[in-house]
Amino acid sequence: MKKVQLILFGIGNVGSTFINQILEAKEIFKQQNLAVEIPVIVNSTTAFFKDEGVDQSWKANFKDFSLPYRLEDIVQFVQSKKWKNVVVIDATASKQLVANYTFLVENGFHIIAANKVANTLAYEEYAYFKEVLKENNTHFLYETNVGAGLPVIETLKSLYNSAEKITKIRGVFSGSLSYIFNTFSEEDKSFSKVLTLAKEKGFTEPDPRTDLSGTDVARKLLILARELQFSYNLEDVKVKSLVPFHLTATTSVTTFQEKITDLDEEFESLKAKLNENEVLRYIGEFDVEQEVLEVKLVSEQKQNPLGALQGADALFEIYTESYGNQPLVIQGAGAGAKVTARGLVSDVVKLAERI
Ligand SMILES: NC(=O)c1ccc[n+]([C@@H]2O[C@H](COP(=O)([O-])OP(=O)(O)OC[C@H]3O[C@@H](n4cnc5c(N)ncnc54)[C@H](OP(=O)(O)O)[C@@H]3O)[C@@H](O)[C@H]2O)c1
Repeated sequence: MKKVQLILFGIGNVGSTFINQILEAKEIFKQQNLAVEIPVIVNSTTAFFKDEGVDQSWKANFKDFSLPYRLEDIVQFVQSKKWKNVVVIDATASKQLVANYTFLVENGFHIIAANKVANTLAYEEYAYFKEVLKENNTHFLYETNVGAGLPVIETLKSLYNSAEKITKIRGVFSGSLSYIFNTFSEEDKSFSKVLTLAKEKGFTEPDPRTDLSGTDVARKLLILARELQFSYNLEDVKVKSLVPFHLTATTSVTTFQEKITDLDEEFESLKAKLNENEVLRYIGEFDVEQEVLEVKLVSEQKQNPLGALQGADALFEIYTESYGNQPLVIQGAGAGAKVTARGLVSDVVKLAERI
């Protein structure tokens, strides 16, 4: 039986769902000759340790018995156990934790991250980290960085590694932006009303400008481009922000919410210019041949996969030489704790096969 010990950083939406999914998967893991335990769970201030791995009572145990910690304490604890296969699961959005990835890798830990920070570091830092991984013969998996549980990175990597020529990647990369434009195009509601609805349904970030600025899409585009071995930085992505200049991040979230109807006129006029069979979509696009990375608002034909998108689905089109004009399409829920946690579990199984 192959044993894998997980050190989980982050027990928020994704992290807590992940623990429950790992506990529920024990029987299926056994069928694969695999035993997965989570002996350490950590939030930003305290850590809970249990040699044989946490069980269903992890929440109460964490509340009652977790202790303030330093990263060095965790490394020391793990090393004292002489475990062979130790994997850090990063279910945080922490820059500070990513700054310690090198330290963790040098201590022999593999890393699986939902956190996008490492893959969007300045190129030199990113390349250095990849080098450290190689030198230490450790693995770094991050399928959930783009499209949550959807197999986007795996598919792209597999095409690239088989020498398939990828010519273009485009799509609606986020569930919130999908919902906003699918609803705005279909229903007779103002843009501000749709934004408010999206926020009420929990699709947008607390500050909707995080979605509307295009930064999140730009990050995902950069991650995909780097999978194809391009050495771009975030500044290389041309982003058409949907936030009007007078409401950019220098104004407070409250002011933005108060003036949210300021967005309506422009979007109404864009909608009025559409032909009957067209809809608006806010997309990420990497034209590999032209080497252009863009986040932009486009009109799409309703009958095309992007135009026909419903609900809060994300959609990725991958154009390659063999697939010709008909792209390979990956579509489904592009966010949410359940699908993201499942993506992390799937990375654990993949990693276990490699070690
Ligand atoms: N939710 C999704 O649909 C989705 C999809 C794809 C990717 N992701 C990514 O998954 C990650 C987690 O998302 P989430 O929605 O679960 O966030 P969340 O609910 O805000 O939880 C974040 C967790 O990280 C902990 N944390 C923060 N800094 C830490 C540090 N330095 N060391 C240890 N723990 C730390 C927090 O602890 P405290 O409570 O002590 O602050 C909290 O437990 C993010 O990077 C997100 O972008 C999420």
